[in-house]
Amino acid sequence: MRLVVISNRVPAPTAATGAGGLAVALREALSRTGGIWFGWSGDRSAERALEPSVVQASNIAFTTVPLTDDDFERYYCGYSNRVLWPLFHEQLHAMEYRDTYRESYEDVNTYFADVVAARLEPDDFIWIHDYHLIPLAEELRKRGVTAPIGFFLHIPFPPFDVFRALPKRRSLLRSFFSYDLVGFQTAMDARHFADAVTREIGASVGEDGTVAEMEGQRVRFSDFPIGIDVAATSHTALASRSTDTGQRLTRALRGRKLVIGADRLDYTKGLVDRFLAFERFLEKYGSAVDDQMIYVQITAPSRENVEEYQEITRQLEAEAGRINGCYNSIYWTPLRLIEQQVPRNTLLGYFSLSHVGLVTPLRDGMNLVAKEYLAAQTPEDPGVLVLSSLAGAAEELGDSAVLVNPYSADEVAEGIYRALSMPFEERRSRWERGIEVLESNTAEIWRERFLDVLQSCA
Ligand code: G6P
Repeated sequence: MRLVVISNRVPAPTAATGAGGLAVALREALSRTGGIWFGWSGDRSAERALEPSVVQASNIAFTTVPLTDDDFERYYCGYSNRVLWPLFHEQLHAMEYRDTYRESYEDVNTYFADVVAARLEPDDFIWIHDYHLIPLAEELRKRGVTAPIGFFLHIPFPPFDVFRALPKRRSLLRSFFSYDLVGFQTAMDARHFADAVTREIGASVGEDGTVAEMEGQRVRFSDFPIGIDVAATSHTALASRSTDTGQRLTRALRGRKLVIGADRLDYTKGLVDRFLAFERFLEKYGSAVDDQMIYVQITAPSRENVEEYQEITRQLEAEAGRINGCYNSIYWTPLRLIEQQVPRNTLLGYFSLSHVGLVTPLRDGMNLVAKEYLAAQTPEDPGVLVLSSLAGAAEELGDSAVLVNPYSADEVAEGIYRALSMPFEERRSRWERGIEVLESNTAEIWRERFLDVLQSCA
């Protein structure tokens, strides 16, 4: 069996990625089995390419094509990131629908199908990832592909009352039926999917809620929460503590406790709300923690061609300036906003040196930063994860994190204080519970579970 993984974003084989995210997870999954990783190169060119560029790096063939300016604007920025991304994250205020976006989305899926179909071999297994490529299996089937095809949605699937805000949504739902297996991050996402296909296109869902049928087509679906490579993450984090960057951070902290957040600059991550919650924390506890802690928020630039993303940068910078303006002193600047892509190993070292990890998205499919944060801690001095109850990760990590509602500044402020002042024994027992959960569902187990079920569908 040869594994063909397809995702919109394919990193360069040597790229140092930020923590978490689809790219890290897929690289870990593919490096065990080897195979092809197909998708967009990240480049734009005047013409589409029917011959992909192939870079073989150890056992993975990174196989990529460029997008045209039109594809980039309409398929990637448009339908993927101005329509499906906000809709699926229940952020309808950020959704901007156009028919031309949808047409381009369908068209780029046919482009990918043309390139991939020409390169498939008889024993291939195809695993397609994320919201950019939902119609891809349908396009491959039209080209005669009979191989087993699985799909995994890395982001949430919204409740039907939100989903129905999508214009011309039926064909999108129908295209799920060309897969053999569809995976979601959580059981709730799987239920939302079942609800959408039954209510919108009249599919019937079996009693155990794992098979949907419509007009003779049948798809299996279930939750497959994505995991991380715990041992490798923990090893990298530990090694990174003693590098130059780790030592510099230790010196800069001067014994103060570090509260850290690291996110893609995205409105779903709840960064502005998080800053306001931090302000609430300072209002209440500022004099108690004066110069004994600092909050460092690292944000990696993302999707800068989409207006909503530019807006959030402006808001965050203004809030950071305002909050520091109110609370800083000659000795202490409580909040530091670092707007840059920090290499993953450096970031893991920072996590390891911190006391509190803030992961408070307004909505998130899983949030692998939360998992990486826990894996980066050591038993001698484990940091505490403050986690949004609206992140998929909360379903698994509820017991080991301080769960907060990201829409409540009061709750997040209390969560930060609780985490900062938590006794060692409690920090340690929570962390141990978290590690147990992570180890029972690593990236490898996630991949095996999904591919085993996909194989059984063949
Ligand atoms: C999320 C999505 C991924 C996406 C990543 C980075 O994790 O689920 O599909 O690749 O964000 O976003 P970008 O638009 O830069 O690929």
